[in-house]
Amino acid sequence: MGSVKVEQLTKEFAGVKALNNVNLDIQEGEFFALLGPSGCGKTTTMRCIAGFEQPTSGTILIGDKAVNSIPPNRRNCGMVFQSYALFPHMNVFENVAYSLNIKQLNSSNIISQLGIYGRLLNRKLGKYPKDIEKKVMEILEYVELDQYASRLTSELSGGQQQRVALARALVMEPAVLLMDEPLSNLDQKLRHTMRNTIRRIQQDLGITTIFVTHDQEEAMSMADRVAVMSKGEVMQIGTPTDLYSRPATPFIANFVGTSNILKGAVVETNGFTIVKGEGFVLKSSQQTNKKGVDVIIRPENIKIYKQNQEQSAVANLIEGKILVSTYLGSIVRYDVQVGSYQLTVDTTYSSGESILGEGEKIKMSIEPERVLLI
Ligand SMILES: Nc1ncnc2c1ncn2[C@@H]1O[C@H](COP(=O)(O)OP(=O)(O)O)[C@@H](O)[C@H]1O
Ligand SMILES: [Mg+2]
Repeated sequence: MGSVKVEQLTKEFAGVKALNNVNLDIQEGEFFALLGPSGCGKTTTMRCIAGFEQPTSGTILIGDKAVNSIPPNRRNCGMVFQSYALFPHMNVFENVAYSLNIKQLNSSNIISQLGIYGRLLNRKLGKYPKDIEKKVMEILEYVELDQYASRLTSELSGGQQQRVALARALVMEPAVLLMDEPLSNLDQKLRHTMRNTIRRIQQDLGITTIFVTHDQEEAMSMADRVAVMSKGEVMQIGTPTDLYSRPATPFIANFVGTSNILKGAVVETNGFTIVKGEGFVLKSSQQTNKKGVDVIIRPENIKIYKQNQEQSAVANLIEGKILVSTYLGSIVRYDVQVGSYQLTVDTTYSSGESILGEGEKIKMSIEPERVLLI
């Protein structure tokens, strides 16, 4: 049973609140990301779940069982850290076999009677029980490191080291896999490959996974659901598409993808909402009972008006002036001055098209369904 519940979790360090009433309900088999800027409490949440940190108040449940008083090694959680935390003097095989070997020795009566001497003797002889050897080699094959079993981990690349760390966590067959910024030390290309590797393994094994990251793209591309954290609190939990299309606050709108955020006053409501601000009047199909709102518009939802379009058929026509154009391959990003705002507008680009130049005056339109009000 690998579901994880965090109920009203609060953690104080010397009177300072690192976590304030955090609630999470993670389903068995789910890939769940904790996303937020540095210092928002991601690692502390993870360490409380793993048992390395005692909550100031609140309950942690793993598989419906409260684990607050259970030590880390009996919580059935596997951990992978940003720094890999491998044993440098051991080879790949030994690193992965280590915990498994200890576990088996502890549970075997005869060898445990030999105590530390028995373990040392075993290590010296380089002997591992056949079942351990089989299991370790299987998992190494799984993460494509079987060829490297006898290499020292210090002789491996960052990506390979991270796969050893992953194998070491998985070999214990944990109910829950906890990963704290596991890709942060890798270069960008490798990060992309490892994202896919981790996601494939997670889906293959159906293992409940909690993945901590400050990188929104990583969280959005990998997770089934994401909890966005800020200053020790959970701001919103949802699927990546939920968070992107219905951010609960301007902070989330900005943190999850790029957003244009405008301050507006509601001037009319009649099944839809008309909002007026500095240099714009916009119609939104969203209803609100607020007087002042944050208007959120994603860059790709602003269309540049083409001269041959029928003007009366276009909703939310606004005028602006191109400040900067940036060619990004398949899209062109424009910074456009509208009133006192500088809007970001993304347009798809196909080769041969002309790109608007600095100072050009343009008209833009936005569908009322794409004008979000918070
Ligand atoms: N052992 C500790 N002692 C004191 N303060 C801590 C300790 N661990 C974390 N903190 C504080 O708690 C807050 C959250 O930290 P952390 O969970 O590491 O954030 P994140 O992982 O999101 O970067 C930070 O303000 C940090 O300084
Ligand atoms: Mg951290």
